[in-house]
Amino acid sequence: MKNLNAPLQFQFQLANLFSVILFFGFGLCLGIILTFHLKNVSFNLQFTQLSIATDTNADDIVALPPPPMKVGLENYIHPTEVLHDLSDEELIWRASMVPKVKDYPFDRNPKVAFMFLTRGPVLLSPLWNMFFKGHDGLFTIYVHTSGFSFNWTEPQDSVFHGRRIPSKNVEWGKVSMVEAERRLLANALLDFSNQRFVLLSESCIPLFNFSIIYSYLINSNYTYVESYDLAGPVGKGRYNKKMHPTVKINEWRKGSQWFEMNRELAIEVISDNMYFPVFQEYCNGSCYADEHYLPTFVMLKFGKMNSNRTLTFVDWTKGGPHPSRYTRYDVTWEFLRKLRNDRSCEYNRRSNETCHLFARKFTPHALDRLLRLAPKIMHFNS
Ligand SMILES: *[C@@H]1O[C@H](CO)[C@@H](O)[C@H](O)[C@H]1NC(C)=O
Ligand SMILES: *[C@@H]1O[C@H](CO)[C@@H](O)[C@H](O)[C@H]1NC(C)=O
Ligand SMILES: *[C@@H]1O[C@H](CO)[C@@H](O)[C@H](O)[C@H]1NC(C)=O
Ligand SMILES: *[C@@H]1O[C@H](CO)[C@@H](O)[C@H](O)[C@H]1NC(C)=O
Ligand SMILES: *[C@@H]1O[C@H](CO)[C@@H](O)[C@H](O)[C@H]1NC(C)=O
Ligand SMILES: *[C@@H]1O[C@H](CO)[C@@H](O)[C@H](O)[C@H]1NC(C)=O
Repeated sequence: MKNLNAPLQFQFQLANLFSVILFFGFGLCLGIILTFHLKNVSFNLQFTQLSIATDTNADDIVALPPPPMKVGLENYIHPTEVLHDLSDEELIWRASMVPKVKDYPFDRNPKVAFMFLTRGPVLLSPLWNMFFKGHDGLFTIYVHTSGFSFNWTEPQDSVFHGRRIPSKNVEWGKVSMVEAERRLLANALLDFSNQRFVLLSESCIPLFNFSIIYSYLINSNYTYVESYDLAGPVGKGRYNKKMHPTVKINEWRKGSQWFEMNRELAIEVISDNMYFPVFQEYCNGSCYADEHYLPTFVMLKFGKMNSNRTLTFVDWTKGGPHPSRYTRYDVTWEFLRKLRNDRSCEYNRRSNETCHLFARKFTPHALDRLLRLAPKIMHFNS
């Protein structure tokens, strides 16, 4: 019996051995595949281990250690510093991002970004300090100062302290002026709470108090980029044929450099890679890009929601390449009141007596008079 069964038993053992080898080989392959896979996705490995741990000991809470400090969204949504080392290209890319989720996961106070494009210090800063006092959280200030040769630090208690953005040299009438405006817009866009963006110069003054100006801007459904068609040497005469066909001569517009716009338009302006490169190339001389790029671009693409007027009063009636400058002898209450309500304008499609919220050009020589009249401008105790 034993001998008779021997070959059969041997066959059986052989088959057993094969299945063991097969099983081992399969296991080995599986092991290799698994190791390879997990090595590639080491993050996944940790996660798998974590979920296994939680699964097997359901009672033990396996928590990740807390980060060494609170991270949250705070620094992302409320940037406090204006200094950074981004190149213009990096800055514009970063600033052009738009959240797809429309509901904000935090309380958002809409702010107005006051962007000062200056050649030196903000000389009328004592007046602006009075203007901003008591309205923290509703505004942000950005200063772009061209010319690195001078030394300027605003006192610690000034609203302008530490608000100078990384700036580059600006040449009057050259395209670098528009580059500086885009740089200001991009820096201001980094703060998600900024909803309106106003460009000012060191010679601008506010014509009303903060509450009036804030509500006028925040509640406006329109943007304020002056844009009009003008024949003659300082209008159509500045058009360069080489811009054709991107910009046609009948599309060429003119307007004041001093604009006010909302966040949507600001993002479009910094993201424009169709018209701006053409202006950079062919409108960098006696073409005055700062008076033509935005008026033309906004008319072409976003004209419907643009008021086509500027909120900054300036007097060109005396002629010449520069507008009238006001010194202390010009600054009287009668004069300022005239600037406040000089004519009638459309505001949100209704007639409104206020056309201008700001005015220029005021010299530092006018500062003492302006400060004396500030209580009236800002409606203190009256
Ligand atoms: C600017 O001021 C700083 C410190 O106040 C000083 O160290 C620096 O030399 C000054 N630069 C010029 C160009 O005057
Ligand atoms: C003009 O607009 C301001 C700002 O919204 C508003 O307070 C004022 O009532 C308006 N005036 C008229 C006459 O509609
Ligand atoms: C514009 O002209 C200035 C000098 O006239 C030059 O330095 C600058 O590079 C020019 N900009 C462009 C974008 O060509
Ligand atoms: C501003 O100009 C644009 C383009 O010409 C036009 O569509 C728009 O209606 C104008 N805006 C107002 C308020 O008239
Ligand atoms: C302004 O826009 C808002 C929202 O789009 C709208 O509800 C409101 O009626 C508009 N106001 C005016 C005066 O057109
Ligand atoms: C701003 O001025 C208006 C009138 O011009 C006044 O009613 C209002 O109280 C002033 N607001 C502040 C905060 O002074």
